[in-house]
Amino acid sequence: MSHQGKVCIITGATDGIGKEAALNLAKMGFALGLVGRNTEKISEAKNEIINATNNQNVTFFKANLSSMDQVRQLAKEIQTQFDHIDILLNNAGAYFSDFGKTEEGLENTFALNHLSYFLFTDLLLDTIKATPKSRIVNVASDAHLNTNMSFDNLQGQNGYKGWPAYCKSKLCNVMFTYELARRLEGSDTTANCLHPGFVNTNFGNNNKTSVRLSLTAAKVVGAINIHKGAKTSIYLVSSTEVDGVSGQYFSKCQSKNSSAQSNVVEDQRRLWDFSELLLS
Ligand SMILES: NC(=O)c1ccc[n+]([C@@H]2O[C@H](COP(=O)([O-])OP(=O)(O)OC[C@H]3O[C@@H](n4cnc5c(N)ncnc54)[C@H](OP(=O)(O)O)[C@@H]3O)[C@@H](O)[C@H]2O)c1
Repeated sequence: MSHQGKVCIITGATDGIGKEAALNLAKMGFALGLVGRNTEKISEAKNEIINATNNQNVTFFKANLSSMDQVRQLAKEIQTQFDHIDILLNNAGAYFSDFGKTEEGLENTFALNHLSYFLFTDLLLDTIKATPKSRIVNVASDAHLNTNMSFDNLQGQNGYKGWPAYCKSKLCNVMFTYELARRLEGSDTTANCLHPGFVNTNFGNNNKTSVRLSLTAAKVVGAINIHKGAKTSIYLVSSTEVDGVSGQYFSKCQSKNSSAQSNVVEDQRRLWDFSELLLS
């Protein structure tokens, strides 16, 4: 199937799973709108993708997605550049071992991993919905299996621990996807999410040395390579097998059950309303 000219927006495309997905999707002929936050890494990734694929339809946008102001500006720039969006792949995410806040006063993990997906999708949604057979794909994680929703501590205000906060943010990705898919019922747009596997990327390397070393050791022992790690993202973006499939959680290119907590509809709605209120 030809993907020539189809517009795919990918966040976190300067490294790891996002860059690997971008490389493969460029090979398939997609027109890519890629998001990075670091000028040097943007330039390197752009050259690497164009040189490897000969696809000149690669445009990078710069934004720090932890800043909701920058997410808003980014959405405007993307809508100026593209009059349609076939696929949005929300991928940028990180692990923060220690508590910290963004300049806007949001907790780092919740801001980047959940709120940026939520806001960016919301701002692009009219353009996406106006594009036939469009897709929204959210990179979540099996880490969501390790936690429950606690609405009184979504931003670590009653005590912060890095791993539980990360797990909660990935649970938010799954619950946001399900609520979004329900709201998209009857439209020509689907929304799905995925677990990429435990992947040997730069994930976690933004933290202090002790955290980096233990993550590196775990990656050496148990992680899959980037090529394998990007497969499910690429599948959900490009495969005809998932035409019309929506509201599902995927791993290894197959739909599978997410946690019982992620399926609680009342909590999915509550998370949506909470996020909307926070960003209003
Ligand atoms: N690796 C795993 O084992 C694993 C497992 C399950 C789920 N995931 C999920 O997979 C996704 C991708 O992770 P990865 O493993 O590919 O990590 P990675 O190698 O660290 O790549 C993350 C990407 O996100 C970008 N990014 C990080 N913070 C950003 C910010 N504030 N604003 C804009 N861009 C930002 C990074 O930009 P820079 O290049 O500038 O750093 C990079 O391009 C994440 O959502 C993660 O939660 C990963």
